[in-house]
Amino acid sequence: MVEQDLSLAPPLAPTPANWIEVVIEGFDEFLQDHASCEKKASGMAMSVASHYPDQPILLAAMVDLAIEELNHYREVIKLLLARNITPGADQKDPYINQLNKEIRRGSENFLLDRLLVAAIVERRGAERFDLIARNISEPALVEFYRAIAASESRHWTLFITLAHSHCPIDQIMPRLTQLTALEANIMLAQPLRAALH
Ligand SMILES: [Fe+2]
Ligand SMILES: [Fe+2]
Repeated sequence: MVEQDLSLAPPLAPTPANWIEVVIEGFDEFLQDHASCEKKASGMAMSVASHYPDQPILLAAMVDLAIEELNHYREVIKLLLARNITPGADQKDPYINQLNKEIRRGSENFLLDRLLVAAIVERRGAERFDLIARNISEPALVEFYRAIAASESRHWTLFITLAHSHCPIDQIMPRLTQLTALEANIMLAQPLRAALH
């Protein structure tokens, strides 16, 4: 796979400035949500792997990703346990649910949309984990969130690269532009809470 130049990708709308305040204030609660998000990200990668057993590049990438996200989950669980916090039950994630509704059915569009929605979710994760790294005071957490942000940023690149190897090239940027605009509306409509989304 040829890694794609993403400098032409439309920028994400920035996260509202007060999101980080809510997260730092309710950081224990945020960690519970973060653990769920990593677990769901691993499950999402496994679900794509199960859906495309006949696509070796995609399959291999999704198995690697599932393991990497599961490693993130393990790291966040360690942080929770070290703080004597019980992991919470998985909550509904309206941001993800609304984005998933934008995935068009029909085999031709489905894979393109699924890859691009995943790319945007990874990119948003990278943006927000970086905000945490730059605003949290505990040095160990600064390091941790810096590493997580770098990893999610690589996943954004991965999904765009996978789209280029599996989908019509001329459809990628136009659809990414549409989905990025839809994501901005969905993101801005969410109430602020101590959660990733
Ligand atoms: Fe992750
Ligand atoms: Fe990720």
